[in-house]
Amino acid sequence: MTEKQNIAKTTYSDVISLARRRGFLYPSFDLYGGVAGFYDWGPVGSLLKNNFLAMWREAYVEGEGFFEIDCPNVTPEVVFKASGHLDEFTDYMTSCNKCSQHFRADHLVAELHPNPDSLGKEELAGLISEKGVKCPECKGDLTELYAFNLMFKTNIGPTSERPGYLRPETAQGIFLNFRNLYIHNRQKLPMGVVQIGKGFRNEISPRQGVIRVREFQMAELELFVDPENPNYVNYPLLKHISLSLLPDTTEKEILSRTVEEAVEEGIIDSKILAYFVALTQEILLKAGLDPNRMRFRQHEAHEMAHYAKDCWDAEALTDFGWVEIVGIADRSCYDLEQHMKHSGVDLRAMRQLAEPKMVKVRKIEADMKKMGPVFRGRAGKIRDKILALDDDAVAAVESGQPLIVSVDNERISISTDMFTISQTNENRSIERFMPHVIEPSHGVDRILYCVLEHSLKRTVDESGEETRVLHLPPVMAPYLFAVFPLMSRDGLTDNARELYNLIKNELRGRGSLGFYDESGSIGRRYSRMDEIGTPYCLTVDYQTLEDGSFTIRERDSKEQARINKKQVRTALRDLVDHGISLKDWSKKNGVKLISRDN
Ligand code: GLY
Repeated sequence: MTEKQNIAKTTYSDVISLARRRGFLYPSFDLYGGVAGFYDWGPVGSLLKNNFLAMWREAYVEGEGFFEIDCPNVTPEVVFKASGHLDEFTDYMTSCNKCSQHFRADHLVAELHPNPDSLGKEELAGLISEKGVKCPECKGDLTELYAFNLMFKTNIGPTSERPGYLRPETAQGIFLNFRNLYIHNRQKLPMGVVQIGKGFRNEISPRQGVIRVREFQMAELELFVDPENPNYVNYPLLKHISLSLLPDTTEKEILSRTVEEAVEEGIIDSKILAYFVALTQEILLKAGLDPNRMRFRQHEAHEMAHYAKDCWDAEALTDFGWVEIVGIADRSCYDLEQHMKHSGVDLRAMRQLAEPKMVKVRKIEADMKKMGPVFRGRAGKIRDKILALDDDAVAAVESGQPLIVSVDNERISISTDMFTISQTNENRSIERFMPHVIEPSHGVDRILYCVLEHSLKRTVDESGEETRVLHLPPVMAPYLFAVFPLMSRDGLTDNARELYNLIKNELRGRGSLGFYDESGSIGRRYSRMDEIGTPYCLTVDYQTLEDGSFTIRERDSKEQARINKKQVRTALRDLVDHGISLKDWSKKNGVKLISRDN
């Protein structure tokens, strides 16, 4: 950058206007006026998103060795009854008695409280009444607060008999498959399972553009662990990295700690949770987030989702302030316990005991002679549910509680003459326990927005002319390289196409794409590539016709060097894979740098 250029602040509207112009993002349904909370990823944006997801998969599936599964978006109601989403996944609303507009209660007190998200119904209502908050549109009086469930409801089949919902998180599909996956993993923990898919939340009034959308890309891990073994095999690999932490303490100050210090000082509860905070940071930095605009904030007790025992959010500083982009939650045994209770299926794992021990075992038997005539075709399914009851459930029945099992979405009461309970003492070397779950959950659209905002540098020269460069890491760049003929004549285009094909074939299978462009002035072509973050541009010119050489221009430094076709493979590999600058590469290879293009 020359002295005459000034760095200008990057706002949300700068990012969105570039994103629309260059094919990253388009507002959905625009032809019909659009709908708030929906965005389409365009051709360039889809490449960016795919690069992030490939990197994420690389970290979790290849790096950690976790399984990946893929479950439906539409989910029957019984699942969300069990998971608590039907009753708890709500925001509080209020409406205006005069103009009938609806509002999210926490939005109305945004200026009156440092963290309105952490307020419960009573606190929100108290603040609204104490401060005399009125309708922001017409100053009318507001109604009492009421809960609004954020899940999109639908019918499974033609009638409303079987309600279903679009999933608000991919996690539930993983919990429902726990037994299958545990068997698939040879009944061993820890066991990590990831899912990449869409999540849906019917936000009341989405205000922050692409930050708060109603249909969004999620990438989630559910790591099932034995709560008696808080260690994680890869912990030593990341224990030295430094984190910026904002714990939920009264001091509310940012602490800079290594992962290990955070665990030893009790700032982060366990090594496993700390490891995934650290891995999240590694991924976000690799994706291009600015380390100086990133932190991890621990949730306040009231702010936590209904299933969480502890939660650290990765937050990025944006034009909107701090924005949550990843939530790393300790869900304890909440979900498996809930699904076990509601389905009647044993979802416990097993651990080997150091010493065998004598335990009292209750055995429940179903009497098919009695159940057959009453339940007919369903008797077999009911018997399986009864046999799958855990010892606690059988003990409860033994002490007089009714025996109820769920079959085909129906709760069926079993009379006491249809089963018997017996007791024996057995020497056991294994015991059953409820696994706990650590869950890093990534909001991919938000992450990508933050990557764009942090990567976009705007400079304005003395004449007021603005230049925009997206400093994306090569691993995220939609196109790794571009090839231009200086002019579209005199055989330059054939040469440029040949060079483009050569590199394209060289990089094929690595997920790195190239772009060929012969339209507009060379300056415009460079700036278009700068705006979509292409790290390298190669230009074929008249000298190419004489000696086969061409120029390579580095986006970030604007340095250029002249290289020949034989050097192109190693050059791209050194520059991209080993992160060598064009200047250093040129020096090492005896290539002279040409002056910068500005
Ligand atoms: N599964 C985490 C979330 O729903 O935010």
